[in-house]
Amino acid sequence: MDQIRIAGGKTLKGRLPISGAKNAALTLLPAALLTDEPLTLRNLPRLADVDTFGHLLNQFGASTHTQGSRPEDFGRVMTMSANRITSTTAPYDIVRKMRASILVLGPLLAREGVATVSQPGGCAIGNRPIDLHLKGLEALGAEIELTSGYVRARAPSGGLRGGRIIFPVVSVGATENVLMAAVLARGETVIENAAREPEIVDLARCLVAMGAHIEGIGTERLLVEGVDRLHGATYAVMPDRIEAGSYACAAAITGGELLLVGASRELLGSSLPVLEEAGVRFEDQRDGLLVSRPDGLHGVTAQTAPWPGFATDMQAQLMALMTVAEGASVLTETIFENRYMHVPELARMGADITVRGRSAFVRGVPKLTGAPVMATDLRASMSLVIAGLAAEGETIVRRVYHLDRGYERLEEKLQAVGADIERVSGD
Ligand code: EPZ
Repeated sequence: MDQIRIAGGKTLKGRLPISGAKNAALTLLPAALLTDEPLTLRNLPRLADVDTFGHLLNQFGASTHTQGSRPEDFGRVMTMSANRITSTTAPYDIVRKMRASILVLGPLLAREGVATVSQPGGCAIGNRPIDLHLKGLEALGAEIELTSGYVRARAPSGGLRGGRIIFPVVSVGATENVLMAAVLARGETVIENAAREPEIVDLARCLVAMGAHIEGIGTERLLVEGVDRLHGATYAVMPDRIEAGSYACAAAITGGELLLVGASRELLGSSLPVLEEAGVRFEDQRDGLLVSRPDGLHGVTAQTAPWPGFATDMQAQLMALMTVAEGASVLTETIFENRYMHVPELARMGADITVRGRSAFVRGVPKLTGAPVMATDLRASMSLVIAGLAAEGETIVRRVYHLDRGYERLEEKLQAVGADIERVSGD
């Protein structure tokens, strides 16, 4: 398994390109199943999960063609054509590798009236149930049964029909699954307490470009008027706000200055005020967002919440930054039940963190020391990279396949702005 070696202490400076958003790509890809015409996605990030999703679409008989990108380019153009669907089963061996596979449930049900999808099971950060996905699809008339680890779903004989869903908990995936099913359901669907993450806005805009009728985009109340069919489209994936926020933390912890190409204050949304309070400075420029840390870092209090709250996907990265801030920080994770696995690894580097229930109390220390550490999940692995960039000495991050799921060519991007970082094949 590959490892990443970092010699800390280098100040990052220069231009760093922000790739297309993983969490937008993973919901735009299944949207290709909703039409028999080609859907072309531009600015697709080169990530393991995007490749896995391409294989999954092939599994259903959809073709996927990646167009003309030179090896040195970031991002790709991919055209998916699901003109003939030959299977409606998403097998365990693919779903277990990528939980987002559950997002094929709604589109397959809407297009083919039937879907058999392996239950994704839990993951490192929590047990990640899918009850809200299933209840939402049942509200559109789907009959759902769970047998031998699979979700078997069937639409009524006349196809899915519009319905009213009130989500008791905000769920990004459940909102995406139900939205993709509703666009082809007969009649009107109302989704209340819908998630409002920018990636859902991206999905809704793509669906509208394909001919869907959706109102309330970006709000917690989505109104969908079903249509008989959708047509193909070409759509550019939005920039990745979590990648941008992660590299902003990297710039800040090294006391450097990065121009995050393609990012903006608006893209970072709710992460921005928390990072500004910590002492990070942001300036919108013509082609991106200039990030610097002119003075010291200060401890902050932050609590994760659905958009427009502070993103749970930024919690681990902020924590890494706060380990060397002046004063104490209190970070509270309200979305997932086990999203502090980076804490013991950061402690190996000298961080002073105490977890009590859902909150982590971070006391800033003068410096971190490089150490061998282990990535446990995607954002935890990024927090270890951020810490390693500032730590004295060498840090080896093991199990970097976690990183490859969400950060396109990370070491190349960081090398180009001065980091002493390389990928080495490890044990
Ligand atoms: C999406 O996961 C993202 N993944 C996650 O990003 C992100 O952390 C999460 O949204 C929250 O923003 C993708 O978009 C591929 P949820 P998702 O449904 O949809 C509970 C990353 O690092 N819940 O909004 O799975 C759930 O347990 C990843 O890029 C139910 O109880 O998240 C959690 O506590 C990690 N029942 C809360 O809702 C359900 O049916 C929010 O989960 C569904 C969810």
